[in-house]
Amino acid sequence: MVLAEPGWADEQTDTVVALEDVSLTYNPDQGSNALENINLNLNEGEFVCLLGPSGCGKSTLLKIIAGFIAPSAGNVVMDGEPIKGADWHRGVVFQQPPLYPWLTTRENIQFGLRMRKIPENESRKLTEEYLKKVGLQEFGQSKPYELSGGMKQRVAIARALVNKPRVLLMDEPFGALDALTREQMQSLLRNIWWESRCTILFITHDVDEALAMGTRVLVMSRRPGRIVKEFKTAFTYAISGENSNRVRYTTLFLQAREEILELINQQEFSYNI
Ligand SMILES: Nc1ncnc2c1ncn2[C@@H]1O[C@H](COP(=O)(O)OP(=O)(O)O)[C@@H](O)[C@H]1O
Ligand SMILES: [Mg+2]
Repeated sequence: MVLAEPGWADEQTDTVVALEDVSLTYNPDQGSNALENINLNLNEGEFVCLLGPSGCGKSTLLKIIAGFIAPSAGNVVMDGEPIKGADWHRGVVFQQPPLYPWLTTRENIQFGLRMRKIPENESRKLTEEYLKKVGLQEFGQSKPYELSGGMKQRVAIARALVNKPRVLLMDEPFGALDALTREQMQSLLRNIWWESRCTILFITHDVDEALAMGTRVLVMSRRPGRIVKEFKTAFTYAISGENSNRVRYTTLFLQAREEILELINQQEFSYNI
């Protein structure tokens, strides 16, 4: 279903990550799968938002793509190669960023580059570049406890992006932020995506956020998690282009919002007997 005029990310691009018939069972005694028959392609440059009721398997799906857990059945491939474990080609950002409390902002961002043994002068240059991109130049020497929630999340984003990953996987990254900070972070992320044209999978609870950010919105069913509907969306271009939130009040946006909310509510309250 197409909900707005397409933009550049809707051009036919290569598939970066592909999931084929992926299922996951945490505990066979539980009787139901956490995920069931997931088929999903993440294409180059797309901003895919994943919505669904609590406990439907969103984080599980992200962890499988990250390579933290292996599926019980099915295939997960990146650029045609099976994903066998975590690596820096897939950057991950969580709701509570696990920053090293004893390291400064700069050191937290540089950490992965050092682990990868990138030459020091190059890794310093990259670190400064990403420190600037997320607007934290003045906080390079601060420790995490000195930063606000939004700032910590910016460190986490810079730390993932500094590796120039092919895919950025974000699990409710702005869920713990106040409304104003959340909107600022959405703008920042949209600009980064726009500039770098990286591929993003973004989990959120918030339908407005999904519509304001995504080029594709996927809705999952309650457990066992399946993808029940997919929407092509393009509101993000209007918000970015005019730097305006007006599109959020258009009939098209409100209709899309209502349709998706209804679908999620059906998932929340329908019970399989
Ligand atoms: N490590 C685990 N062991 C057993 N069950 C788990 C584990 N992690 C998640 N689950 C279960 O799998 C289902 C999906 O969880 P999750 O992916 O965290 O959902 P979501 O992110 O959509 O809220 C839930 O029923 C949850 O209780
Ligand atoms: Mg989750």
